[in-house]
Parts: sequence; C-alpha cells; structure tokens
Amino acid sequence: MADAAIGTEEKTGGITRREFLYYIWGASIALLAAQSAGLLIWFLLPKFREGEFGGNFILPLESIPGVNAPPNNFADGRFWLVNLDSNDPNDLFQPAPEDPPEMVGVAAIYKVCTHLGCIYPWIPANNRFECPCHGSKYRLDGRRIESPAPRTLDRFAMQFLDIDKNPIPGSESPLVDDFYQPVPIPDGAAFISVNTGARKLGPSQTLLCDFAGNCP
Ligand code: FES
Repeated sequence: MADAAIGTEEKTGGITRREFLYYIWGASIALLAAQSAGLLIWFLLPKFREGEFGGNFILPLESIPGVNAPPNNFADGRFWLVNLDSNDPNDLFQPAPEDPPEMVGVAAIYKVCTHLGCIYPWIPANNRFECPCHGSKYRLDGRRIESPAPRTLDRFAMQFLDIDKNPIPGSESPLVDDFYQPVPIPDGAAFISVNTGARKLGPSQTLLCDFAGNCP
C-alpha cells in the first residue's frame, strides 16, 4: 500500500511533494545556522571603536593634570582625569580619617553623578565637583562630600602605554574592594589608555561633611 502511495505521489515541477518538503526543511536549517553564525560573529566583534564612549581612549601624557591640580575634562569619553597625591594635601583634598594611608596616582572618574545621573562640573571657586541637579558634592578624587549622592563617583580602568603604545606591565588600575585605585605614572610612560567599557561603582563611605561637622 505504502509503495502504491509513493508511486501515486503528485509531482510538481519535476519533483514530488515529499522532495519539495525536504528542500524546504533543509533551507530552514541552513537559514537557522546562518543566523546563529551571524549572531556569534556580532557577539565576538568589539562593540565600540577606539575613541568612542564604551571603548578605549588613548591620550598623551600631557593630558594628565598636575598633582592635586583641577581635573581635566574629556567630554567625548565622559570622564575626568585627576592626578592625586594625599601626601601633599591642599584645599582640593580635604583628607578624612577613613582615607587609605596613601592615595597617589592618576584616576579616570565618570562624569555622571551617582545620585540620579546628572552631568556635574568642577567648580574652581569651591575646589570640588558640584552636581547642579540636587546639590551633591564630591572631592577631587570623587569621594562624596555631601549627599544625596549615595556613593563616591565611579571610575574607569586605565593603563599606561609606552611610546609605541604598548602597555607597560604593572601599570593597570589596581582593584581594591572592587574599586579602581589611582595609578602612579610609571617610567617610560608616553600615553594613558582609559577603558570606558570597564567601570567600577564607587563605594558608599561616610560623607566628608560629617567629619567636618558641617553637613546641611
Ligand atoms: S543627580 Fe546629582 S545630586 Fe541628584
């Protein structure tokens, strides 16, 4: 009976209906495989180009401000570069008892307020970052002075490069308690690379205004 059924199967354009269904099934499998391969390639390719937010910014060493000087602004990368030395405190630094024993080196600070995401400026007259939206204030290293900010400003990963733009071993931002620490400028550094795709959230430390007893 089965042979009889096959024998009587209707032919369309020189192929049987069964052959036609096989071709459709094969084409569907091939299409699915192509889609999966495309997705895999898309996933593996870098999503951001160099110099584009989300990617690496490579800047000459001259981009780094002086020690404890006002920060340098990199609007395209949405970060500030600061050059810290807690051994040489001044009005920009307002040391706190909770500070690590030493804070020396360069850090890249995200330009977005940790409260509700406003872009905040450096206010030279007050030597600190001040958010225009709800009044949060931050020290030069990004530590919060006044709320409502819930935590210190976020930081990006950095590394120093030599004159040929090769990474200098040991010059990556060290992680302490899952937060990027400042990196001292190593010998032979000619460039700094800031990875805006690698951000760590700032910790929630005591407000600096608490230490000074002048919180509003
Ligand atoms: S967004 Fe900055 S204080 Fe609210």
